[in-house]
Amino acid sequence: MKRTYTLYIAAVMIMLVAFSYGCNKQGSEPASEPAGDQLAAGQVLVEEWKCNYCHTPEIMGPEGKAIPDPDRLLSGHPAGEEIPELPDMIMTSPEYMEFLDNLDSTVWATDNRIVFTANLTPDEQTGIGTWTEEMFIATVRSGQHQGVGKRLKYPMPWQELAELDDSELEAIYLYLMSVKPVSNKVPESIVLFK
Ligand code: HEC
Repeated sequence: MKRTYTLYIAAVMIMLVAFSYGCNKQGSEPASEPAGDQLAAGQVLVEEWKCNYCHTPEIMGPEGKAIPDPDRLLSGHPAGEEIPELPDMIMTSPEYMEFLDNLDSTVWATDNRIVFTANLTPDEQTGIGTWTEEMFIATVRSGQHQGVGKRLKYPMPWQELAELDDSELEAIYLYLMSVKPVSNKVPESIVLFK
């Protein structure tokens, strides 16, 4: 009888220890893993750095003002959207300047290229859905696709972004991974003058 009693106490104690361990684990989660806070911080950084300005196509808003299209958030230059014909002018001519002014903010021209902004949504085929956090951080820090590929062209502000610390870049990555995946294969940049 006494023996069963001791066993019973032991079993209860094991359960208590297991239970309190479980509680502690749960209790400490918000402090060690503030995923929600980090996501919110990522959204704030994306707004501050105007990623949407370049990476989100616009639609006409209610007051006749262009607004970022909520259905295509951060999905880059829309595939298949026609770009205006290039003027046969030198870059510094007023006509060329007007041409540049009329491009929407997902299309940019450098001295000899037309560059299209990338799809930053988690779509696996056309966005950055298969990228790890390391690949994202390496891209921004090195100015090269996934840290090893093609150089990022103007006006992607990677030099400035590279100065953010890892936790800020992590937050941006988390936020990008949380937006709706949009299938949009952004065209390659176009070389103007060979
Ligand atoms: C002034 C416009 C502009 C802003 C602002 C901007 N980008 Fe970009 N971004 C670009 C352009 C243009 C490209 C494509 C460059 C190229 O084709 O080489 C690009 C490319 C990228 C790429 C590389 C994708 C790949 O496949 O290699 C990433 C990642 C990226 N941007 C993330 C961001 C993030 C995150 C922000 C905000 C924190 C941001 N960009 C803000 C213009 C911009």
